[in-house]
Amino acid sequence: MTAREIKNITVIGAGTMGHQIALAAALSGYSVTCADVSGEQLARARKFVDTYLPQRVARGKLSPGEAAEAGKNLVFSQDVDESAARADLVIESVPEILELKRRVFSRLDKVCPDHAILVTNSSFIVSSRIADATGRPDRVCNMHFFNPPLHMKPVEVVKGPHTSEETAAAVVGVCRRMGKVPFLLHKEVKGFLINRVLSATHREALFLYDMGVASIEDIDKAIQYGLGHTIPPFRQMDLIGLDLILNIDMEHYRETGDPVHKPSPVLVEKVVRGELGRKTGKGFYDYSDMLAGRGY
Ligand SMILES: NC(=O)c1ccc[n+]([C@@H]2O[C@H](COP(=O)([O-])OP(=O)(O)OC[C@H]3O[C@@H](n4cnc5c(N)ncnc54)[C@H](O)[C@@H]3O)[C@@H](O)[C@H]2O)c1
Repeated sequence: MTAREIKNITVIGAGTMGHQIALAAALSGYSVTCADVSGEQLARARKFVDTYLPQRVARGKLSPGEAAEAGKNLVFSQDVDESAARADLVIESVPEILELKRRVFSRLDKVCPDHAILVTNSSFIVSSRIADATGRPDRVCNMHFFNPPLHMKPVEVVKGPHTSEETAAAVVGVCRRMGKVPFLLHKEVKGFLINRVLSATHREALFLYDMGVASIEDIDKAIQYGLGHTIPPFRQMDLIGLDLILNIDMEHYRETGDPVHKPSPVLVEKVVRGELGRKTGKGFYDYSDMLAGRGY
């Protein structure tokens, strides 16, 4: 299957990522079905599309014709099997639970046309942990979008040892047609490319602080002005959530035993205190004013 032959895309999961991936594909001219087992989630997704498209027209970002076309290109469905049955490409975006993803892929393999490519939008699970649940591992890979997928350009296409060159090239082609900037990873690696570099920056910033080299504010300023990072590491960790950062570190440490992944003392201290970043009003920085202003 080549990129040019792909006309029908089915997105499985209409959550945070899925409904926006579906809309981005519909805006690029694909015929898209977004399927979810939850009627409530589908209703929320439909409401988002019904608000988003007119808003873009009002802001002059889309013509009324383009918005109408995108609206026509996208349907929502609670019938996952039926939605997958006509797909050339299926983008799975269900929760990050390996067993669930394997179950979904095994079912997709049975109901999708033989030629269909099946990709996962997983943040961390490499497709070789899923591909063997299907009888078509050569047509399985990762297609990792960033949040919010309607607006974020990068997409990591990760080729597993089972993925054919043709499949990887087709998925890269779809990214381009969607106006995205695809990166092809020739090997599976934990955290893929962008999140690996990001967590290396976080790790180094935490190490410098834990060693007493500089203050949190100065490390952030140095990286902001010295390296041109718009969101410096401590601010960014507060945005992501310190509990999530710690969980990821712990998982890497458990898996590898590599001391480089040993969680930073200041990170553990913050999480134990319940200072998890923006969402709790305090992390490395204080956000209580901001949260009060937003009526949290
Ligand atoms: N949230 C992010 O910032 C982000 C960024 C990049 C990648 N991802 C990845 O995208 C995937 C989805 O994440 P999310 O944040 O959108 O999750 P989410 O929980 O917001 O949405 C998942 C959706 O999948 C649906 N679902 C569950 N089981 C299903 C099934 N068997 N068939 C069909 N639908 C089913 C749920 O009803 C839900 O609507 C995960 O693998 C995650 O790691 C998330």
